[in-house]
Amino acid sequence: MNNLLIGDCRNILPTLETKSVQCVVTSPPYYNLRDYGVTSQIGQEATYQEYIENIVDVFREVKRVLKDDGTVWLNLGDSYAGSGQGGNLSKNKKLKSMTPLKRTPLAGLKKKDLIGIPWRVAFALQEDGWYLRQDIIWHKPNVMPEAVKDRCTKSHEYIFLLSKHKNYYFDAEAIKEPVVSIKGNNKIFRNGGVYTKGQSYFNSKKIEAETHGNKPNESGKRNKRDVWIIPTHPYKGAHFAAFPLGLVIPCVLAGSREGDVILDPFFGSGTVAEAAALLNRNWLGIDINPDYEPLYKQRLALFA
Ligand SMILES: C[S@@+](CC[C@H](N)C(=O)[O-])C[C@H]1O[C@@H](n2cnc3c(N)ncnc32)[C@H](O)[C@@H]1O
Repeated sequence: MNNLLIGDCRNILPTLETKSVQCVVTSPPYYNLRDYGVTSQIGQEATYQEYIENIVDVFREVKRVLKDDGTVWLNLGDSYAGSGQGGNLSKNKKLKSMTPLKRTPLAGLKKKDLIGIPWRVAFALQEDGWYLRQDIIWHKPNVMPEAVKDRCTKSHEYIFLLSKHKNYYFDAEAIKEPVVSIKGNNKIFRNGGVYTKGQSYFNSKKIEAETHGNKPNESGKRNKRDVWIIPTHPYKGAHFAAFPLGLVIPCVLAGSREGDVILDPFFGSGTVAEAAALLNRNWLGIDINPDYEPLYKQRLALFA
């Protein structure tokens, strides 16, 4: 408990106790995006089909260690076939092992095709028996500009909520959000979302969003929506693929009670451990790269 296990999660997960974990929050390596510098890392497969098979295998074992009413919160982003997707990682000279990859293999796709990896993984997991309960959009309001002129700049990733069974632990109260009002043109609502030429989406009279189905309860809060606006936070340590704490916190709050165990089989810098420590949960991490071990210790030193 509250421990990082170093090694391939496909070897370590089978050593964990059955039904010992309440909630899994994780971000596996994205397909062909980064080289974490370790043999048998996931994400370097020759085809996306092999990548998906590996992810499904990992989550089959995750299912065994998950309690019957447990949930998985799986963060994944997409990429384009035949494009370099590595971003600015190589600027950090200290971290030679975590370099961007030059090209995503086509693997049966056309160059420039969006691979659709998150959904392909989600459907493969669903076919493998998981309940695919929700696609949460993580909207990143502060993404870097992309050098593209024939599509919009990508500013979102997915978090899939998966469960083992039809009924599962989910504390909706814990993640309720304040009711917000939306300024806009109510014609777009009356016309079923259609707005006509000359009407600007945001320029007309103020309307309140508390229309049917969007009523605040007595506390002025409402059920959390499935688009989460969370800026990316450059993590200061030597790991460039860390997800923001603000993304993990709602998953932990809704997916567990105090004292429960949260697992991250692709632990990286230990964001999940930090969220668990903040919220009085226990945690368990697995990562294949021993170089990342000091990172979570630095993060958790703040709680000592
Ligand atoms: C996207 S990063 C996770 C970052 C993490 N969420 C954080 O906030 O720092 C993916 C991690 O998976 C690890 N990894 C890759 N293949 C693995 C495998 N087979 N078993 C366990 N960890 C693996 C990499 O070393 C990397 O740290």
